[in-house]
Amino acid sequence: MTGFDALDLLAEIEGVGRDRRRGGYTRHVFDDAERELRDWFVERAQRLELEVTTDRNGNLWAWWGEPGPDAFVTGSHLDSVPGGGAHDGPLGVVSALAAVEQLKAAGFVPSRPLAVVVFAEEEGSRFGLACLGSRLLAGAVAPDRLQQLTDAAGQRFVDVARDASLDAPGYDAESLARIGVYVELHVEQGKGLIDLDAPVAVGSSILEHGRWRIDVHGQGNHAGTTDIADRRDPMLPAAAAVLAARRAAARRTGSRATIGRLEPVPGGTNVIASRVSAWMDVRADSEADTRDIVAEVQAAVAEAAAAEGCEASVIEESYSGEVRFDPQLRDRIATTLGGIPALPTGAGHDAGVLAAHVPTAMLFVRNPSGISHAPEEGADDDAVRAGVDALARTIEDLA
Ligand code: GLV
Ligand code: MN
Ligand code: MN
Repeated sequence: MTGFDALDLLAEIEGVGRDRRRGGYTRHVFDDAERELRDWFVERAQRLELEVTTDRNGNLWAWWGEPGPDAFVTGSHLDSVPGGGAHDGPLGVVSALAAVEQLKAAGFVPSRPLAVVVFAEEEGSRFGLACLGSRLLAGAVAPDRLQQLTDAAGQRFVDVARDASLDAPGYDAESLARIGVYVELHVEQGKGLIDLDAPVAVGSSILEHGRWRIDVHGQGNHAGTTDIADRRDPMLPAAAAVLAARRAAARRTGSRATIGRLEPVPGGTNVIASRVSAWMDVRADSEADTRDIVAEVQAAVAEAAAAEGCEASVIEESYSGEVRFDPQLRDRIATTLGGIPALPTGAGHDAGVLAAHVPTAMLFVRNPSGISHAPEEGADDDAVRAGVDALARTIEDLA
């Protein structure tokens, strides 16, 4: 069979969902681009004679052999952040397809069910909750929260899911019970492998992380006629939040706090906003550090809001504790692959959600820019091939 080289597969989708404003890709769950990628995945998986099903949460499963318990599952996601890179997500999917093709061509027959999975809405870029597909599957989203998930255009997840013919999103005990082991290959999102001068590593842990929403209400008004003393401008407490987040994280080793999304309403150059919403992403080595950073930002926002005559609230949208991947599985994979290094990551993954339920591991592939969630993200051809090879050897060993 030809056409299952991971680089060729990436090239096939390089025109899908390009972001004209930032460059890179914007592929959000169930938008046109992501649907096109879903169709492409189904077609490619069927060419490999895998049987594809969609679960009740929109995750795609391509089965080699009968779907069944104790399956070896590998895969990743096809959605992206706004203006994201080509590899975050798709690299794990194309590498899984390429590894299956390589093993089939070599006559390998797995001794347990094997599936390539594509998880839905890993980035949380449309409905705000990262790893939505795997969280729903694992029963980690409360039903009332699910009802409240809404995108920027006001569309509810449950309505979008219904339009996509999803049957009752929520806890999927049956799909979860089939996973015996999950191994996700992913482009590295930092410089760890550059520093180690290695093409591939096995994952050791994921930093704890969470998202908070900051809303500040003030008084919308005219930029030219409103005296400074008369203003109740919600942008000032929002600006205080941005600065406090940086200050608080910089004082705690290993911590990161980011406000990458800020929405003034209505957003006009000559308009004092009525409301500003901001979303803060915090990651740290310990829960204490995370909570301290959030508390510090909350205090700075409250102080600035009081000074400006505004009302502010800070609400936790999600929180995930530190993940330590199964040490036995990690060591076994590292040994099988000739003693490759182990690396922690600050990025969240569906593997982090599944790690609470099944033995889970990750393979990271070197990214020569060290940049991710941006168009500059990348992977050298040799490293991509090394990743596919590593995944194929892992499958041979474990499946
Ligand atoms: C996903 O890539 C995340 O870490 O936010
Ligand atoms: Mn990502
Ligand atoms: Mn990812």
